[in-house]
Amino acid sequence: MNIYVAGPIPEPGPGMLRSSGHAVKFCAREKGPERGELLDNLRDAHGVLALLSSRIDSEALAAAPRLKVVSNYAVGFDNVDVAEATRRGIAVTNTPGVLTDATAELAVALMFCAARRISESERFARAGKFTGWSPNLFHGVLVTGKTLGIAGAGRIGTAVARRCKGLGMGIIYFDESESAELTKQTGARRVSKAELLAESDFLSLHLPLTAGTRHFLAWNEFRAMKRTAILINTSRGPVVDEKDLARALSEGVIRGAGLDVYEEEPEINSGLKSLENAVLVPHIGSATVETRAKMAEVAAANLLDALSGRKPQFMVNPEVWEK
Ligand code: DGY
Repeated sequence: MNIYVAGPIPEPGPGMLRSSGHAVKFCAREKGPERGELLDNLRDAHGVLALLSSRIDSEALAAAPRLKVVSNYAVGFDNVDVAEATRRGIAVTNTPGVLTDATAELAVALMFCAARRISESERFARAGKFTGWSPNLFHGVLVTGKTLGIAGAGRIGTAVARRCKGLGMGIIYFDESESAELTKQTGARRVSKAELLAESDFLSLHLPLTAGTRHFLAWNEFRAMKRTAILINTSRGPVVDEKDLARALSEGVIRGAGLDVYEEEPEINSGLKSLENAVLVPHIGSATVETRAKMAEVAAANLLDALSGRKPQFMVNPEVWEK
């Protein structure tokens, strides 16, 4: 069968796919194929290993009459039209679990970066502006002992909360459902969205992108937060109205933000880019050597399982298999 790999994933993924006996074609482009190239390559593909930058929408699925599986190289799958794939009997898989620690570490790193003004002061030092210690140079705020608000009590939100408990932080969370696990591990208290906004010193987003979570935070929500609050987003950009966030940061409605994801990736709102109180990194939540190798292994295994008629371990639409 034909496999199309829509980007340069690390080993052991390519090795696993090449030794499977299937015909494998790789897109060499670092950021994945251009749209036309993706559609051309889907024409004969039985399996596609997709990056989150590849839009596998209804047009792409219609261009792929032989497709049996979309193996997404990510835990998030908002780049795939899952309903349409399911309607066509195409399995969709993802890579949960293996990137939890890496993403949680980045969320905590962004908290410290924003609270202690690390990027801003590093820029200052590199520019040769450090001319001597001063009692007033780059005051930040403590992380220790503050209240952490988690929006989305899944694996990553729980892993962030666990780390922050070690910093003596009080944890509150907002989620549609109760998380006994999060409470057991961290003593976290479930709160309403209004309480989350009002009480969090640090608010860390761990929501999947859906119609219901788009612009979960916009102007009214920023106004309901503490003026000293710091927002962390390692989930998906469109969960936050970026234009309103830039305004809230520039007008001091909240203190700061640490962002890994953006509304129109890879574009970043120009207002945000000009602000010293926004820490901006380029969607690197899962970017550790260990994690990316694990993601490649899981994505390749999911894809090969589906092509050989075995139910993949991590299916987004398991109902396809049950049919
Ligand atoms: C994901 O997996 O959804 C991340 O955003 C990229 O690793």
